[in-house]
Amino acid sequence: MSTPFDTSAATIAPEERGPAYDPLASAVRDGLTATPKWLPAWLFYDDVGSYLFEQITELPEYYPTRTERAIFAANADSILEAALGGRAPGGTLRLLELGAGTATKTGILLAAAIRRQGLTQYLPIDVSEASLQEAERSLSQLLGAVEIVPQIANYVTDALAIPPHSGPTLALYIGSSIGNFAPDEAVAILRNLRAQLRPGDSLLLGTDLVKDERLLVAAYDDAQGVTAAFNLNMLERLNRDLGAHFDLSRFQHRALWNAGESRMEMHLESTVAQTVRVPGAGMVVQLWQGETIHTENSYKFTTESVRAMLAAAGFEPVQTWRDERGWFAVTLAAVTGQSRTQRSQRAQTAPI
Ligand SMILES: C[S@@+](CC[C@H](N)C(=O)[O-])C[C@H]1O[C@@H](n2cnc3c(N)ncnc32)[C@H](O)[C@@H]1O
Repeated sequence: MSTPFDTSAATIAPEERGPAYDPLASAVRDGLTATPKWLPAWLFYDDVGSYLFEQITELPEYYPTRTERAIFAANADSILEAALGGRAPGGTLRLLELGAGTATKTGILLAAAIRRQGLTQYLPIDVSEASLQEAERSLSQLLGAVEIVPQIANYVTDALAIPPHSGPTLALYIGSSIGNFAPDEAVAILRNLRAQLRPGDSLLLGTDLVKDERLLVAAYDDAQGVTAAFNLNMLERLNRDLGAHFDLSRFQHRALWNAGESRMEMHLESTVAQTVRVPGAGMVVQLWQGETIHTENSYKFTTESVRAMLAAAGFEPVQTWRDERGWFAVTLAAVTGQSRTQRSQRAQTAPI
């Protein structure tokens, strides 16, 4: 069954793509001809959107970033120890990260990796070149101990292409970015990642947990209106990149809690009936007054739903760290097929 966020709808098999294939135009055509209308969350992250996201992470209402950062700050050494599962220190550990952004929190884990393992390789993958440049700048104090190999790629529209690595890999998918996908899509993304990992490698997954609705809504509809600007920037981006004619004053930001689906939703609501030309996607969009374009889902998890998602994707939870309020969870998971003891024995008999 196709959901509004069915990523396969925005994906054309590489062999079918002609030379003029444009993932942006293709995603916009798919989303704005659907009922209800939707646009994929990766469209947020042009240079302006990436800058606005960084502003959001500093807002008083936006608890996820600072909560996850505090979990890392308190537990980074334990996380690395658990991930390496008894391996002898030494060898090159690789941290790879999906949707790395500016990697501000990742610096804490990289510093712990250097303490535990010495020379470390970091492979941040992100659709935003500006964010990856900022990540390299912000991690510059670790240079010398970290080899940074950034990859500009879209893990929704393109297959993951992770280079082989002789040492262990700890994959990071943090910031609750997995929450942007419906359960079946989230499992598909984790399975794709799992397929690129080897026995003994691990995944560190950050997930935002179900909590009081007022806290959730405030986090996605802040008093200063930064999240509204972030949401509206998606239309401004289509104006910039596809020559579209969206008048931002004719849309408003909406954030709501969908309890049945356990997710926050962001929408752009058309305040008038209107017709908008989008030349770069070769289309004209008609919206009625009150119609919305669904721009983001942010699923909120429980311990059980995290476990079920990981198990369905071929991972076995090893250890979970939470903040004291129970708002956010960071779960270390192993590639299944081996028990922890087997992993540890293999690691001890085959040091890297
Ligand atoms: C919510 S931010 C999280 C950033 C960072 N990991 C954190 O925890 O603060 C999502 C990041 O993933 C990137 N991103 C979103 N969708 C993506 C996609 N389909 N492929 C690659 N990167 C993506 C964005 O550019 C952005 O940097």
